[in-house]
Amino acid sequence: MVMRTLVYNEGVPTMRVFQLEGGWSADHLVIAERPMPEPGPGQIVLRMRAASLNYRDTVVIQRGYGSQTGQLPLVPVSDGVGEVVALGAGVSRVQIGDRVCPMFSPNWIGGRPTAARLGATLGGPLNGVMQEYMLIDAEGVALAPPHLSDVEAATLPCAALTAWSALVTEGKIEPGDRVLIQGTGGVSLFALQFAKMLGAFTIVTSSSSEKLERARALGADATLSYRETPEWGRSVRDIAGGDGVDHIVEVGGQQTLPQSLRAIRPGGTISMIGVLSGPSMEARLGLIVTRQVRLQGITVGSRDSFEAMARAISQHQLRPVVDRVFTFEELPQALTYLVSGAHFGKVCITHG
Ligand SMILES: NC(=O)c1ccc[n+]([C@@H]2O[C@H](COP(=O)([O-])OP(=O)(O)OC[C@H]3O[C@@H](n4cnc5c(N)ncnc54)[C@H](OP(=O)(O)O)[C@@H]3O)[C@@H](O)[C@H]2O)c1
Repeated sequence: MVMRTLVYNEGVPTMRVFQLEGGWSADHLVIAERPMPEPGPGQIVLRMRAASLNYRDTVVIQRGYGSQTGQLPLVPVSDGVGEVVALGAGVSRVQIGDRVCPMFSPNWIGGRPTAARLGATLGGPLNGVMQEYMLIDAEGVALAPPHLSDVEAATLPCAALTAWSALVTEGKIEPGDRVLIQGTGGVSLFALQFAKMLGAFTIVTSSSSEKLERARALGADATLSYRETPEWGRSVRDIAGGDGVDHIVEVGGQQTLPQSLRAIRPGGTISMIGVLSGPSMEARLGLIVTRQVRLQGITVGSRDSFEAMARAISQHQLRPVVDRVFTFEELPQALTYLVSGAHFGKVCITHG
């Protein structure tokens, strides 16, 4: 990793940022200096305290979303938390000293998704949270739950909100529903925690027996190794009883969807969240039709949904599962660790 210092005109205050410059790969991540941001009307400046990584951040660095990934130089990583240190003219939503999370989609306040709301996202194409100070519209942040540490609060904007949107905003799960959760990464463990909070019966799959044990300790009612049982669809149906599970948090994509279509009950919902095992769909479409299955795409969520989620997290004193914390300078190592798949829950960064 290169540490690069730009020289600005003497007297111009600067801050440190991590940015991707000169090419799209982790080898092009450098620490650079940029001028300290000044808030314009309606804007605020945050002193960033912590960040957390999502699988998406590793995709962005390789320009995996094509032209939608954004332009270089780009400040990576979508999720973080910071303290409000400056207010632009006309800002009344937040106060100096408030601890807030920048929203993953800062233009999506509420209502239905639109191309403009979904297209403007932090950590690509918009600059992300790996900067000491961050300039953002005051409308694009929400208060972090007070009981959480900085690192815990930094896990919420993408991973937690995606799980919340899947199970609550769109999924509307109810007590007693049977929910299948794939894997034990960031989104999946939030899905497990929310599903338990809402009184659901939960089944978790993982490649690792040790992670399954930890999932049971977190409240999973049943667990299954997708490595030992690659054709797990029937097994899940047997565990769920009846016609199958009511809801599936689908993060695998290509290879897991055929199994999910065996595990889901007629009329159940599969939340389409990730494509970890491949991006194409090779599934028996007849099963979707004849079992009247709902395939619901999820793209994180709105600020309104975040605020509803934050209230529930506060009310239930829920604590995110943090696997490991790296320093600001260790971003490349943190990304490598995430890609290794060794983590259980969230990989985080402190800004120091
Ligand atoms: N649509 C959205 O709004 C949205 C938002 C956030 C994330 N995502 C997507 O959701 C996926 C997960 O993201 P994340 O940030 O939570 O990732 P993560 O923290 O890196 O977790 C990935 C986990 O998925 C599990 N996994 C991998 N392959 C699997 C398979 N074939 N079947 C079941 N589980 C599998 C693994 O669990 P084990 O180690 O236990 O096997 C792995 O630890 C990614 O594809 C990401 O792009 C989408």
